[in-house]
Amino acid sequence: MRNYKIAPSLLSADFARLGEEAQAVIAAGGDLLHFDAMDNHFVPNLSMGPLACAALRRYGIQAEISVHLMAKPIDRLIVDFAQAGATGIIFHAEASERIEDDLSLIRKLGCKAGLALKPETTLQGLEVLLAKMDFIIVMSVNPGFGGQTFIPTSLDRIKQVRSLIAASGRDVQLAVDGGVKIDNIAQIARAGADIFVAGSAIFNQPDYRQVITAMRRELAGVK
Ligand code: DX5
Ligand code: ZN
Repeated sequence: MRNYKIAPSLLSADFARLGEEAQAVIAAGGDLLHFDAMDNHFVPNLSMGPLACAALRRYGIQAEISVHLMAKPIDRLIVDFAQAGATGIIFHAEASERIEDDLSLIRKLGCKAGLALKPETTLQGLEVLLAKMDFIIVMSVNPGFGGQTFIPTSLDRIKQVRSLIAASGRDVQLAVDGGVKIDNIAQIARAGADIFVAGSAIFNQPDYRQVITAMRRELAGVK
């Protein structure tokens, strides 16, 4: 069995109590925090920036914080998020003029690096970039909002990306982001994901532990 990780997405947390929510979801069994940074330009929504990330660290959050940048340009944000305590920074290929340089910059700043792929982003050219990546996010909804429905054709994309990673022999973790729920997580795992980003599925329920435990139970059944 793969080393599966559940990454609660703070986008669906109560922003007025962000520190408490982050702490609660990790205490409930979340493995790492997924932090969506949207700029109202690359995607039609505006969420959180480096100041909120730094505030989580000041509050005492020690868990990994993986920043999913849905913003353009990204150079300055990479530096700011690294300084704000991010442990991982993932950006969209379309937002970068120099993908390899940006991936290298993230690693140079001591963070794990990754690329996020929208449902329509081509997989062409991905192989050569895997050497510079620690994560890859396959988006299973169009980025911008929480609470959307998983796009079924994403399963094929997950399989394709998993094969590319396997063929490369590199240790790149495959995260799936968008519409992940208790009832589809096993299927997503079978397609080849290791990290499951889940926002509304967790934060829209009163008992975070119950949801995360149910997700783990589903994952334990995956051969
Ligand atoms: C969407 C974000 C997701 C979002 C997922 O653009 O990248 O991380 O929070 O939310 P759910 O799990 O509700 O689909
Ligand atoms: Zn995300």
